[in-house]
Amino acid sequence: MAALTVRALGLEFRNPVVLASGPAGFGLELAAAFDLSRIGALTTKTVTLEPRRGNPQPRLVDAPCGVLNSIGLQNPGCDAFEVDLLPQIRAFPTRRIVSIAGRSPEEVAALASRLAGEQGVDVLEVNLSCPNVHGETVADNPETVRAFVRGARSASTRPILAKLPGEGKYLDLVEAALSAGADGVALINALRGMRIHTETGLPLLDRQVGGLCGPAIFPIALHRVFEARKAFPETVIVGTGGVSDLRGALEMLFAGADLIGFGFAVMADPTRVFRLAQELDEWLTKRGIADVDQLRGASHRGGIHVR
Ligand code: SIN
Repeated sequence: MAALTVRALGLEFRNPVVLASGPAGFGLELAAAFDLSRIGALTTKTVTLEPRRGNPQPRLVDAPCGVLNSIGLQNPGCDAFEVDLLPQIRAFPTRRIVSIAGRSPEEVAALASRLAGEQGVDVLEVNLSCPNVHGETVADNPETVRAFVRGARSASTRPILAKLPGEGKYLDLVEAALSAGADGVALINALRGMRIHTETGLPLLDRQVGGLCGPAIFPIALHRVFEARKAFPETVIVGTGGVSDLRGALEMLFAGADLIGFGFAVMADPTRVFRLAQELDEWLTKRGIADVDQLRGASHRGGIHVR
């Protein structure tokens, strides 16, 4: 058996498989059907201070090799999260990353402060890149990123990940997040895209734009992770965006990800995601590689040498 443990953010993760924020919801349905101790961490659906109803239907539109989503951060709000959900999430036999978002740095600070004393919140992920809320959280410039991360940092001593977009000057956004006190970044969120109804000529989504996720964005996500690792050799990176199988997971590790976030793949086939740590173990063992750490960032060091 190979060693799969990942040490990152001052914590130990059983293996690098992370359920990304969104498709896993708050993990309750998955916890009933799967053994959560087979993954390294679960990221919750994004929580906001107030409950959000989300965007009008349709919220999911087909796209080649993926899906466009327009959920709009639907969630029950922080009160209900703390009272109804967190007691169950706390009992999950895996690390818990709680995703938060706000309309302002002050709102993010308030959320971080509310969750600061809660058991069962291992990491805070500040969602700065949801493409589905008007004029709010999409961090298109470094100053916004800096302000929001500072808000969270000022209110919590928990490890903080900044969930960033893979668009625009994304390396400047990574730099802004880290200089404002983030302990790492999750790269990338869904990419903005659209589809149009051929009978009406009108956009299929109410907000016109949605977030493209799934295998369609994998090569883009991989490139962003590769570039971020090159520019920030020491930071923690959760590589996410269209990873759907062992090959994608290996590529993310080679590019420099510490942890690998699975989003769309959880919707498509959760069974496969829950098998991944075992598949990774078998892959390493077959090649005589003792520790998954040996793969991390290998593309930057001349590749791996297997027997
Ligand atoms: C959504 O709730 O609209 C998706 C969340 C995200 O992409 O950050």
